[in-house]
This record gives sequence, structure tokens and C-alpha cells, in this order.
Amino acid sequence: MERILHFEELDSTNTYLKTHCAQLPDKTVVTAKRQTAGRGRYDRKWISQPGGLYFSVLLKPQKTDFLPNLTQLMALCVCRAAENCGVKAVLKWPNDVLADGKKLCGILSEAVMSGGQIAGVALGVGVNVEQTDLRHVGQPAVSLRGLGVRTERGAFLQQILDLFWRDYPALLQRGFEAVRGPYKQRFVYIGRQISVQNGNKTLFGTVQDVSPRGTLILSTAKGPEEIYIGDLIV
Ligand code: BTN
Repeated sequence: MERILHFEELDSTNTYLKTHCAQLPDKTVVTAKRQTAGRGRYDRKWISQPGGLYFSVLLKPQKTDFLPNLTQLMALCVCRAAENCGVKAVLKWPNDVLADGKKLCGILSEAVMSGGQIAGVALGVGVNVEQTDLRHVGQPAVSLRGLGVRTERGAFLQQILDLFWRDYPALLQRGFEAVRGPYKQRFVYIGRQISVQNGNKTLFGTVQDVSPRGTLILSTAKGPEEIYIGDLIV
């Protein structure tokens, strides 16, 4: 279904797709064994040593209404692939996958603009697979190997992609609603007190729900707030 380009080393698989977007077909997947300038959300570095799974998917959908929900679908697919390996993985809104309370996967989606239009989206995924030392991450992190799972990176990638392509058409049609049920089953923070950080703004409250649009509904001292973007501090 998809065309996969494999590289030993790239600066960043997202950057590769953004640079070559015009020449590459919809659904191209690019992987790298290591990245020299891997990027995370909020301009953070994503240090990408060998042993991790680093890939990006190029998407050129006709309808762009539900682009913010693509990362949530991808997070759900990584979670399910980990579950298939016997790992109890959970989701941290909007798109982190955790296991044993530690980060297993991060996702970065970037729009590719051309002439003021969205020409495509680079959906980049970093999964900790075989690394044994993740002290550089700057937050508690874990790999599948650290959880006692031995899986081949190529097979794990294919599982994620198969799950993604299965639900992608429904997401494009119906938005987050298409995956809200399974997403919420794995989102363990409902009812918990947390804070959400967006830039230098922090909101405190109790998580009420993930809305049909995929936004976070937080019950705060000032009433319910709908949150579109941010980092959950738990
Ligand atoms: C995050 O949690 O901050 C998101 C991390 C996303 C990392 C992946 S690795 C593959 C792709 N290429 C990048 O440069 N970043 C993403």
C-alpha cells in the first residue's frame, strides 16, 4: 500500500519529507536508522540513536479538516501495536504513548506549505524500541526492550502502518469521532488532577473528557476549558 524509503542516516525523516514533498506520492514512508537533527514538539531535540524506530509518513489528503487528529490516530496505532507485543501502553493527550508511566513514543506532525496551501503533512514518529540507555531524554522514558519485549523494528513499523491505513479513511471522513472510543479507553487521565502547559501559560484542573473533536476538556476553577494544544504535566 505504501512506498517505504529506508535510510541509514538522515538529519530528520520529517525534514526529508518536507524537502521532497512535491516529488513524493501520497503515503510515502521514510525511515532512518539514526537522525542527526531529530526534532520533537515545541522545537525540542529528539536525540535519535541507533536502536530506535524513526519514521515519517507523508500524507496528502484532499480534505484538511481533521489534520490535528492525525497525530492522535497515529498515537492510538502505536499503542495498539505495543499492546500486540504484550505491553500495557496508554495514551497521554494529545499524542504521547507511555508504558510503565514512561515515554515510549513521541509524534510530531508538520504541515508542508506551498503557495499558501497545505501541500501535505509529514507525520513523524519516534518509538523507543531497542535502546538500553535513555538517560538523555530529559523525562522518564522506556523502550520496548526495557519492558522485556524483543521485536524487530521493521515488523513493528509494518504493524503500526497496517493499523494506521485501516482507520485513516474513517478519520478523514468523520474526524476524531471515528477513533474516539478506542482513544478514550487508553487515555488514563480522565478524572485526574493535572496541569496543561502551553508556552508560558499553565492551566490547572481535573480532566473531564476528550471531546468529539479530540480537544481536552479540563474542569478548572473558572469552569470548563476546551484545550486545543499543550503538554500534560501529570
Ligand atoms: C515529541 O514527543 O516531542 C515528538 C518526537 C517526534 C520524533 C520523530 S522521530 C521521526 C520524526 N523525525 C523527526 O525529526 N521527528 C520525528
